[in-house]
Amino acid sequence: MDFKQLVFSGVQPTGNLHLGNYLGAIQRFVALQDSYDCLYCVVDMHAITVWQDPVELKKQIREVTAAFIAAGIDPKRHIVFNQSQVSGHAELAWVFNCVARLGWLNRMTQFKEKAGKDRENASVGLYAYPSLMAADILLYRATHVPVGEDQKQHLELTRDIAQKFNNDFGPSIAAKGLGEVFFPLPEPLIGGPAARVMSLRDGAKKMSKSDPSDLSRINLTDDADTVASKIRKAKTDPEPLPSEAEGLKGRPEAENLVGIYAALGEVSKDKVLAEFGGGQFSTFKAALVDLAVAKLGPIGGEMKRLVAEPGHIDDILRDGAARARVLADATMSHVKDIVGFVR
Ligand code: TYM
Repeated sequence: MDFKQLVFSGVQPTGNLHLGNYLGAIQRFVALQDSYDCLYCVVDMHAITVWQDPVELKKQIREVTAAFIAAGIDPKRHIVFNQSQVSGHAELAWVFNCVARLGWLNRMTQFKEKAGKDRENASVGLYAYPSLMAADILLYRATHVPVGEDQKQHLELTRDIAQKFNNDFGPSIAAKGLGEVFFPLPEPLIGGPAARVMSLRDGAKKMSKSDPSDLSRINLTDDADTVASKIRKAKTDPEPLPSEAEGLKGRPEAENLVGIYAALGEVSKDKVLAEFGGGQFSTFKAALVDLAVAKLGPIGGEMKRLVAEPGHIDDILRDGAARARVLADATMSHVKDIVGFVR
C-alpha cells in the first residue's frame, strides 16, 4: 500500500539542547522541509518519564520550540507542537502497550542505561517509553523519521509494533475497507557525518544533556567565547590530521571534530581533510571555532529573543496542536474501529 510521504520527529524538553541534538536532528529537520510535509514535536510526555521540575519543564518546552524556529523550521508550512496537547499520543500508546511484548521492551538499551542499577525504582513510564515513541510516529502514519544514531533501536521497535498491529488486526483492517495494512513501517533517516556526535572530553562517550561536565558539550545557547574555549579545550591526539577520512579510524576524538566540521559546513569528511589534512589541530580548531560561531551564534541569539516572548511561542504550539489533532483524530477513529471499541 502507498502511504503519503510524511516526516515526524521529536525532541525532549529535558535540559540544554546541544550540538548533537542540532547536527543529528534539528539541522536535518530543516533540510527535509522542502521535500516532505513534516511534523516536529516537543515530546513533553516523554520528558516526565524522569522527574522534571514543573516550572523548568514549561521553560524547556518553550526553549525547544524556540530552537526549532530559530534553526529555520517554518511552523506555518509544517506542524510544530507539543505532545501533551494532542491526546491521541497517549491513547495510541495504550493500544501499543497491549501490542508490544515484554521481551521486546526488555531488550531496549536506552532503558537499561537510564534506569541504571536502581531499576526497581525507575518509573513505569520510562520502561514503556518506546511504545509512546511508536505512537508518536504512527499516530500520523509517518513514513520517515530523522533521528540521531542513538534512536535506531527505538525505530526498529516502532516497525515491529506497526507490523504486529497490522498482522494481529489484519482481518479487521480488511473488513473496514482500509486495505491490507494500516500502519506504514517507518524508515529511520539516520546518517551524515554527525549521526552520533561524541563528548568533547571523551571520544568514546556520546555528547549528552546529562553529562555532568559542561565542557563535554556545546549548548545551542553558549556565547561565542564559551564555544571557542570548549573547542580549544576539546580532547585530541598527538598526530597531525590525516588527509582522508579512512585515516580517522581508531582516532575517535579527531573523527568527532572532523565530523562536526563536516556537518556544520554541510560537506563530506574527505572534503574537510582535503583542506586540513597534514596540519596541526590548532589550525583546524581555530577554523572550527569560526565555523561553529558563524553557524550557531545567530541560532542562539534568535532563541533568546523568542523565549523572551512566551506568548508568541504558546500561540505557535496551540496552532500546531490544533492542526496535528485533525490528523491524529482521523487515525484514532480508524484504530478504535479496527480494535473493536464502540465510539
Ligand atoms: P532526544 O530528545 O534525546 O534527542 C533529540 C534528537 O537528537 C538526537 N541526538 C543526537 N544526535 C547525534 N549525536 C548526539 N550526541 C545526539 N544526542 C541526541 C537524537 O537521536 C534525537 O534525534 N526518544 C527521542 C525523542 C522522541 C522521538 C519520537 C524521536 C520521542 N518520540 C518520535 C523521533 C520520533 C529522544 O529521546 O530524543
